[in-house]
Amino acid sequence: MTLQVKPKLIIHGGAGSSLQGKGGLEAVRRSLYTVIEEVYSLLLAGATASEAVVRGCQMLEDNPRFNAGTGSVLQSDGQIRMSASLMDGTSGRFSGVINVSRVKNPIELARFLQTSPDRVLSDHGSLELSRELQVPTYNGLTDLRLQEWIQERQDNFKSTMAGVVAEPELAQSSNAGRGTIGVVALDGYGKLAAGTSTGGKGFERIGRVSDSAMPAGNYATSHAGVSCTGIGEDIIDECLAAKIVIRVSDGMSLQEAMLRSFTEASKNARDLGAIALDATGAISWGKTSEILLAAYHNGDTIGDTLEWKDGELIGYC
Ligand code: GLY
Repeated sequence: MTLQVKPKLIIHGGAGSSLQGKGGLEAVRRSLYTVIEEVYSLLLAGATASEAVVRGCQMLEDNPRFNAGTGSVLQSDGQIRMSASLMDGTSGRFSGVINVSRVKNPIELARFLQTSPDRVLSDHGSLELSRELQVPTYNGLTDLRLQEWIQERQDNFKSTMAGVVAEPELAQSSNAGRGTIGVVALDGYGKLAAGTSTGGKGFERIGRVSDSAMPAGNYATSHAGVSCTGIGEDIIDECLAAKIVIRVSDGMSLQEAMLRSFTEASKNARDLGAIALDATGAISWGKTSEILLAAYHNGDTIGDTLEWKDGELIGYC
């Protein structure tokens, strides 16, 4: 099928307080650009927005640098529990898994649930589903995340969350982060989808539910799609993804919807970020945290937000 519009793509690898050193920044940039290049090629080859989002999320989940899939942070009891969701803007269907363990790609379970009558499963149900689908058992624990947890255990869990990016120097620091990964795509047929996946905050109480498998953290309609990152509780309190998307669906421009929503979040002293696309091809990103690890393809070039520190609440192109 011939493409009717120029595809657009934006991805994120979390938000946080700092990326220590240029090494960290350049390595994160390379990781994000690898995903952008592969997924944008898929969109040019005719992949649907949902297919592109799932592939982008898989690649980010597989990169141990980011807090999702392999490289997920550990909860207070030393276990990995991951959450992920997918929303197809055209069908208007949200699906997801909450606190799933021992699978490589939680986004694949979310994709399977798109056509199921029961579309959001918690821990027990997600495990049953992965057994039913014969998904191989997988342990996404990395040495760095283990070291981070051991250090926090020695400090009696004084940090409220784990590092956004798994870097050796960060694992040794108290640099708090808000790791999540996310992808929003506009395909060549003008359709939108959004996906988000996370290992959670790290060191959290067992049973804590992340925003990443809620419409607050991941939402799309035929008008816009948004994936959030940051402190899940703040994202839920703002109902951020759904709020931005509904504003656009009701007629606001993406830029205006982002600015209004981030102004509110900033007034409420929230710690979060988001990436967004609309059906006209507008791309936007926003943050109240210090950094947002996002990259995009605007149809002509690749750009990123890694060195964006200018105090503006949103950016767009
Ligand atoms: N935003 C990811 C989390 O708080 O779980």
